[in-house]
Amino acid sequence: MTSTDQQPFLSIKDLKVHFSTEDGVVKAVDGLSFDLAKGQTLGIVGESGSGKSVTNLTILGLHDPARTSIEGEILLDGQELLTASERELERLRGNKMSMIFQDALASLSPYHTIGTQIAETYRKHTGCSKTEARKRAIEMLRRVGIPQPDMRVDDYPHQFSGGMRQRAMIAMALVCDPELLIADEPTTALDVTVQAQIMDLLKDLQQEFGTAIIFITHDLGVIADIADDVLVMYGGRCVERGTKEEVLRDPQHPYTLGLLNSMPSLYGPVDVPLTPIPGAPPSLLNPPTGCRFHPRCAFTEKVSGGKCSSESPLLEIVDGRGSACHLTAEQKQELFADFAATRHN
Ligand SMILES: Nc1ncnc2c1ncn2[C@@H]1O[C@H](COP(=O)(O)OP(=O)(O)O)[C@@H](O)[C@H]1O
Ligand SMILES: [Mg+2]
Repeated sequence: MTSTDQQPFLSIKDLKVHFSTEDGVVKAVDGLSFDLAKGQTLGIVGESGSGKSVTNLTILGLHDPARTSIEGEILLDGQELLTASERELERLRGNKMSMIFQDALASLSPYHTIGTQIAETYRKHTGCSKTEARKRAIEMLRRVGIPQPDMRVDDYPHQFSGGMRQRAMIAMALVCDPELLIADEPTTALDVTVQAQIMDLLKDLQQEFGTAIIFITHDLGVIADIADDVLVMYGGRCVERGTKEEVLRDPQHPYTLGLLNSMPSLYGPVDVPLTPIPGAPPSLLNPPTGCRFHPRCAFTEKVSGGKCSSESPLLEIVDGRGSACHLTAEQKQELFADFAATRHN
């Protein structure tokens, strides 16, 4: 029995990503751990600036080493990525792991046809002939729902609509059958109909290819649509983790509760009033002491001894479920009861 058989496909342990800047050290990710199994979708949700993109750029090895200090472990299929050479990372990127972003224009070159870009990615990793690579590019464009792919393969990115460019980027990301796809807000810039089509496409492709997906979004509605498991990030840390149903129906952290209360009900009546979370996300140059959410939390006075501002709550995950909060389970049941009553009936 090899040890990799026992390991999750992707395993991140106590990851810290700190940037040196003129103003000081930005603790963008500060002690993050999570696992992801093959073929599963993990949704990472949190407000802007919570460290979602930095986490995922670090997995892909796309950071500026000169100004970045990284600690922890990132194991992909048993291979440590943080100590891998740039050459090895380049081999893995686009092949074993791949990514799609919000802005397809930024990841597609304006000077080459869509088909050339997809074909070249394929050729780089497989070493196949140009003819074969072009055939593969057309096939991928067909798979992602581009009409007349054998004609559109010769178009330049500006000849595609926003939704079609997003599809082309997905085609490029999946051309080498990656086992891990990182999708960073890929539908945020699209209108609702196109967004729904892209989500359906990703779900179909995942079924077909068995890809593990990390789906980053600030939108819990998107999470409800696509994720198996959810990780809620706040101030560079995970504050809650569980299955989608657990986190969305039975939140165990005041921040998750706040996110849910600030959006239309996912499961219950549509006319529940929305309550935004007061205040703004913390600066990661000087994060709050103790629980990073405490300055915005409605429940700090329920915890004795000012613990919320002095002690960082531990995140204990049992069977994939946990939250980092000083409130007891009984307190949460009582204090969060209104949420369950108003939003699930
Ligand atoms: N290269 C960098 N240098 C300094 N600070 C950075 C850099 N990249 C990101 N940050 C900071 O790290 C924090 C987390 O950013 P990010 O991961 O992009 O947030 P999110 O994707 O959750 O919106 C932010 O405060 C951001 O300003
Ligand atoms: Mg981001």
